[in-house]
Amino acid sequence: MAPARPALVLLVDDDPASLKLLSEALAGLPLTLAVATDGDMALRQIRRELPDLVLLDALMPGLDGFEVCRRLKAAPETCDVPVLFMTVLADTASRVRGLELGAVDYVTKPFVREELVARVRTQLSIRAAASELSAAVRALSEKNEELACARASLEIEVARRTEALRAQSRRLERELELNRAAELKVQRAHDQLAHLNRVSAVSELAASLAHELNQPLAAILSNAQAAERLLTQTPPGIADARAALADIVADDRRAGQVIQRIRAMLRKGELSVAAMDLSELAREVVRLVASAALLAGTTVRLDLASGLPHVHGDGIQVQQVLLNLLVNALDAVSRRPPEARLVVVRTRPADGSHVELSVADSGDGVAPEDLERIFEPFVTSKPHGLGVGLAISRSIVEAHGGRLWAECRPGEGATFRCALPAWDQGARPAG
Ligand SMILES: Nc1ncnc2c1ncn2[C@@H]1O[C@H](COP(=O)(O)OP(=O)(O)OP(=O)(O)O)[C@@H](O)[C@H]1O
Ligand SMILES: [Mg+2]
Repeated sequence: MAPARPALVLLVDDDPASLKLLSEALAGLPLTLAVATDGDMALRQIRRELPDLVLLDALMPGLDGFEVCRRLKAAPETCDVPVLFMTVLADTASRVRGLELGAVDYVTKPFVREELVARVRTQLSIRAAASELSAAVRALSEKNEELACARASLEIEVARRTEALRAQSRRLERELELNRAAELKVQRAHDQLAHLNRVSAVSELAASLAHELNQPLAAILSNAQAAERLLTQTPPGIADARAALADIVADDRRAGQVIQRIRAMLRKGELSVAAMDLSELAREVVRLVASAALLAGTTVRLDLASGLPHVHGDGIQVQQVLLNLLVNALDAVSRRPPEARLVVVRTRPADGSHVELSVADSGDGVAPEDLERIFEPFVTSKPHGLGVGLAISRSIVEAHGGRLWAECRPGEGATFRCALPAWDQGARPAG
């Protein structure tokens, strides 16, 4: 800050003796004094350099003090200059007139020196405080402007970044949509492959299933012929005919169940999630492969635990897993001599919180380096194999929160184990 200059005080009086007295009275103060001897001269000087205080004689020839004060207050560039009236007019009306015109104070002549000095000092310090205040206000409003500028540029930056973020989020949404569509495609392809695998596994059993259906159909035919004969003889053999008809109904049910099982496996559709007993499910699937095993001269032994905790999931999918393992096992033992063709299906509790289903065979086994590779899609050693059975089975088991793996000990054939989480009412269902 520049050092403050001494205050400039203008003394206006037509009487040189008064001017002299005033100058002497104020001589001890740190002021610069200027004088004017009439109203016009005072106005000119004030316009040339604004004083910090004007001591203005009210009664002067020509422009009197009141008129000078009125003109000062009327002009915007001089209206802030403080005016202190000095006059011999001590009446209240004159005082009020002077103050109404905008004067800051009033001193009557003849003045008491101390009183004058005190009033001048007061006015000058008010003036100094006022100008400090207005400097502070100016600085404040400059700061305000700076802040407003900073705020405006901040707002522009925020708007720019918001727009960039919006564009990025739109881009991400589009990418997400594309990903979702791609995922859906992969899921659909997987479902189709799983269905294809079921169809191919069932079709491997086609010959034996036809054979299995032929048995009840042949029995139905011969029982129907017998019933016909019994009813046409005299007297009609009603009781025997009724027994033949009961056999027909039983054989029809058996055939119906075989068809039911095949249709369930070939079904293509939504998941249907339920609690299931792995032992019961294993018995059902083994029934489906029983005649194929019989035709191939393979013994399928069941070692099923009873009262196992249930597992939760899609029954057809879990049956598909076991069917794949059984078809593979039947293939694996087919190269062995008939007396050595054995497949064991086992269920048991495992780890406290899992139920394990395993298929062990007496085939050639799997080389240790292939134990993981055979679960990769399209890995096959069979001339007509797709190589998807184990890959699909593993994805099904993992979707049920479980694990499927193979084990093999030299000279012992392969064992495939599937561990699924046991489900109690409090546990979270799979899928
Ligand atoms: N029990 C087993 N013993 C020995 N090797 C096996 C056994 N199970 C599977 N493999 C090997 O793993 C390969 C892959 O089996 P996977 O079931 O995935 O396909 P695949 O049986 O060849 O064809 P498909 O798609 O018709 O099932 C088989 O080709 C076979 O070489
Ligand atoms: Mg297979």
